[in-house]
Amino acid sequence: MQEAIILVGGKGTRLRPLTNHTPKPLLGVAGSSFIRHQIAKLSDAGVEHVVFATSYLAALFEQEFKDFSEDLEISYAVEEVPLGTGGAIRNAGRLLRGTSADAPVLILNGDILSGVDLRALLERHQARDADVSLHLTRVPDPRAFGLVPTDQAGRVLAFLEKPKTPEECVTDQINAGAYVFRRSVLDAIPADREVSVEQETFPRLVTAGRRVFGHTTDDYWRDLGTPLAFVHGSADLVTGAATSPLVAAPAQALIHPTATVDPTARVTGGSTVGPHAVIGPHALVDRSIVGARVSVAEGARIHESVVDHDSSIGAESCLREVVVGCHAHVGPHNELPAQLRLSCGIRIPAGGVRVSGTAVACPTVH
Ligand code: GTP
Repeated sequence: MQEAIILVGGKGTRLRPLTNHTPKPLLGVAGSSFIRHQIAKLSDAGVEHVVFATSYLAALFEQEFKDFSEDLEISYAVEEVPLGTGGAIRNAGRLLRGTSADAPVLILNGDILSGVDLRALLERHQARDADVSLHLTRVPDPRAFGLVPTDQAGRVLAFLEKPKTPEECVTDQINAGAYVFRRSVLDAIPADREVSVEQETFPRLVTAGRRVFGHTTDDYWRDLGTPLAFVHGSADLVTGAATSPLVAAPAQALIHPTATVDPTARVTGGSTVGPHAVIGPHALVDRSIVGARVSVAEGARIHESVVDHDSSIGAESCLREVVVGCHAHVGPHNELPAQLRLSCGIRIPAGGVRVSGTAVACPTVH
């Protein structure tokens, strides 16, 4: 039986306020929670049992999957206190069914959208008789990442900290967040404290001479941990730039059947519009995520942004790379610039925030 672990216990701080009430893997991308896309991918790769390593808002995972009836069994390893990525793997290992010390266990980070062929990763792991295999991806600018150089045969030479100088950029390969562990190696991770798999487990295995291999591919890859990456990942799934068994055919937009979009509005670039949302006349929603019951008034423009459920955007307002928490209200004629995050429930009055000049007269008496 092929088994897998998905790491889903993180707080997702970079995606706040979306993650205030919803763990990152349960946020909706391209019409389904992200973890459902991952489950579908695992199922396609022949996985029959998956353990969710949960911690933050753990109960919501069981709620999401209470009616799950596919051919894949789900177990929950809950950490009362987060154990770090390594500790989480070790803890989830307790719930694996297989008993063979050599069994390959597939492990996924819960926030990576990737086109990697998981069957190929497993096959390569077995063919190399590896202790651990890591999916590696190449990035154009490696300065923001820890680097993973390999030799000609793909054997990992080191796990290097983020490079500070051009000389330290010895490779463009980085850890892509999908691994295969030999079961006995997984069981040897310390169980009595927090452990980071990236900073502690992997470097120790390499230093100890264990068989740690990289599986480098040029498949689609994106870490959905930041707001912009999150909206781009969702849009890529809708347009077909990234694939998921849950997205049937590429499209310009994914509009829920219960949503209402005015015929003069445009929804483009792989945007999603959630249940009962209303998009008004001449509005534009481009490469964005509009949640359930959101209303977007006439002439509003939303670019590369997320508007969480039950919020409203006033007429002629413009949002660019903005995250709007749930139950928020942006009045008409606002202009919200990149990287702004609006807290859940906040209200911005008409013309309250602008980047460019405003023609509205000063209402105070001087
Ligand atoms: P940020 O707070 O925005 O950095 O996000 P995060 O909490 O998800 O952290 P990060 O992106 O580094 O985590 C990578 C993956 O590991 C995610 O899928 C997390 O859910 C998961 N993860 C991180 N720490 C833990 C932990 O202590 N326990 C468990 N079970 N999972 C974890």
